[in-house]
Amino acid sequence: MSRYAAFMLCLSFGLVFQFSHGTEVTVMDKDDKLCLYADLMVNFSVSYEAVGGKNSTANFELPNQVTTNGSVCKTTRSVLKLNFGAGHSWTVAFTKKGSVYEADNITFSYNLSDSNYFNNSLSNETVSVTGKPQITNVGMDTCYSCKSKDLIQADSVNMTLWNVLMQAFVISGNKSENITSCSADQPSTTPPPTTHATSTTTAAPPPTTTPTPTLPTPTTGQYSVKPEVNRTACLLAKFGLRIGFKQGEKYEEMNIEPSVTNASGSCGVNSSELVLTSNKTTIVFTFASDTKIFHLHALNFTTNSGEVFSEANTSLGLWEAAVGSSYMCNKEQNYTITSLLTIYTFNLQVQPFEVKKDAFSTAEECQADAESFLVPIAVGVALLVLIVIVLLAYFIGRKRNMATGYESF
Ligand SMILES: *[C@@H]1O[C@H](CO)[C@@H](O)[C@H](O)[C@H]1NC(C)=O
Ligand SMILES: *[C@@H]1O[C@H](CO)[C@@H](O)[C@H](O)[C@H]1NC(C)=O
Ligand SMILES: *[C@@H]1O[C@H](CO)[C@@H](O)[C@H](O)[C@H]1NC(C)=O
Ligand SMILES: *[C@@H]1O[C@H](CO)[C@@H](O)[C@H](O)[C@H]1NC(C)=O
Ligand SMILES: *[C@@H]1O[C@H](CO)[C@@H](O)[C@H](O)[C@H]1NC(C)=O
Ligand SMILES: *[C@@H]1O[C@H](CO)[C@@H](O)[C@H](O)[C@H]1NC(C)=O
Ligand SMILES: *[C@@H]1O[C@H](CO)[C@@H](O)[C@H](O)[C@H]1NC(C)=O
Ligand SMILES: *[C@@H]1O[C@H](CO)[C@@H](O)[C@H](O)[C@H]1NC(C)=O
Ligand SMILES: *[C@@H]1O[C@H](CO)[C@@H](O)[C@H](O)[C@H]1NC(C)=O
Ligand SMILES: *[C@@H]1O[C@H](CO)[C@@H](O)[C@H](O)[C@H]1NC(C)=O
Ligand SMILES: *[C@@H]1O[C@H](CO)[C@@H](O)[C@H](O)[C@H]1NC(C)=O
Ligand SMILES: *[C@@H]1O[C@H](CO)[C@@H](O)[C@H](O)[C@H]1NC(C)=O
Repeated sequence: MSRYAAFMLCLSFGLVFQFSHGTEVTVMDKDDKLCLYADLMVNFSVSYEAVGGKNSTANFELPNQVTTNGSVCKTTRSVLKLNFGAGHSWTVAFTKKGSVYEADNITFSYNLSDSNYFNNSLSNETVSVTGKPQITNVGMDTCYSCKSKDLIQADSVNMTLWNVLMQAFVISGNKSENITSCSADQPSTTPPPTTHATSTTTAAPPPTTTPTPTLPTPTTGQYSVKPEVNRTACLLAKFGLRIGFKQGEKYEEMNIEPSVTNASGSCGVNSSELVLTSNKTTIVFTFASDTKIFHLHALNFTTNSGEVFSEANTSLGLWEAAVGSSYMCNKEQNYTITSLLTIYTFNLQVQPFEVKKDAFSTAEECQADAESFLVPIAVGVALLVLIVIVLLAYFIGRKRNMATGYESF
């Protein structure tokens, strides 16, 4: 239900470089390793009410002198906060989603009492506006690059971003040399040479959407890993699993059949492994623990049906829960592991650490389950209220009838 924060909360401090004419900043994590990087230019155009009832527009640029106080690096969520001038700040929130990350929103707070920017402002308040940037599907361990202008409109503010180079969730303390370019920078959006001309979907992200026969829901398998024979389990997993993978131009899906799948693996203090083997496939799930929180850290899928296909991602941040509890997600979920590999889970429950008496401990449910849980509750409450109203109406009506009844006698 609740997401687990405070995992790698890092205190960041203002570190400023003046480089070319963009604003370049770096944010370090608690181990003083680079975790967020940005070099970008932003123009602001803010409309505000000036003394005398007129509206004015302030145009200014993001200065080179900024501090990064308030920036945060966590495993699946990071925030880049750039503070400048007299209490202005520009904030980008990043979220990690499997093998990609994205910027969810950009929030700009501006202090209208700063007369350097807002001459004769009627209000002296600090205003915050939020806009949605077009920064999605950025591969993990790659920099997002966009030289083109990106206009973000938010209420009375226009923000123009350009010459942007940003990386969140920096791995191993070094900015990546690999780039995910924005669609606007790509040479030309040549329409795909498909035979069936579909409607104009411009600059669509690459996900694999080749039509495939729909498979039935996979059977839910129960898997366990024991440290030694005749000992109780140290890792438990329960799920129905479907794998989607792209081999050359061909996209294929397969369900993992529990009855022909063998579970093995190992349990450690910081890392546990579940290996599912059938005669066609091998899937290795590696879980990591920092003693408080665990998560699925790596997934390696290999199949020899047809040609050999092997894809792995070793920097995942999925299925996060407290050590000593289990992670549960009953609703169907899909996770993009790499650009060629997607997994679908059904009735998922995993506990890779501290399993007691061969049974799952308290489950921490995923967001999707929590949401579907709320609907029946809301409906139930509404029904209850309705019943109470009907009953009240009935009793009031009855009382009146009785009262009038006595009078008429
Ligand atoms: C960041 O915030 C801390 C505490 O609020 C403050 O002491 C420090 O001066 C700030 N750093 C910069 C560069 O503004
Ligand atoms: C940004 O603002 C500066 C100064 O206000 C201006 O010279 C420049 O042309 C602007 N750039 C864009 C892309 O709007
Ligand atoms: C923002 O851009 C839109 C479209 O270009 C324009 O109509 C509007 O006046 C701009 N607002 C500000 C505050 O510059
Ligand atoms: C000033 O802008 C506000 C919205 O930002 C609008 O409600 C108001 O009518 C405008 N006033 C004038 C005089 O244009
Ligand atoms: C806003 O600007 C005014 C004037 O420059 C300053 O006194 C005030 O401290 C600023 N507010 C914040 C929150 O920084
Ligand atoms: C921005 O996105 C972050 C992360 O998804 C979220 O926590 C925050 O509430 C969002 N802020 C706004 C104003 O929508
Ligand atoms: C903001 O303006 C109001 C009245 O317009 C005033 O009472 C208040 O003291 C001002 N606040 C600041 C921080 O200047
Ligand atoms: C860039 O990506 C390619 C393919 O994903 C990879 O082989 C290469 O090692 C990466 N280079 C760097 C410097 O990360
Ligand atoms: C493990 O269990 C089997 C059958 O239950 C038994 O035959 C064997 O002796 C046990 N081994 C140990 C080391 O306890
Ligand atoms: C895999 O196992 C299935 C059933 O267990 C069997 O029908 C099939 O022939 C096997 N394939 C290979 C390549 O061994
Ligand atoms: C994934 O597993 C295959 C087969 O065991 C192996 O060859 C490959 O190196 C593994 N990939 C990673 C990244 O561990
Ligand atoms: C993957 O899940 C999202 C929501 O979590 C859903 O909108 C999307 O349709 C799913 N994709 C597939 C191919 O099932």
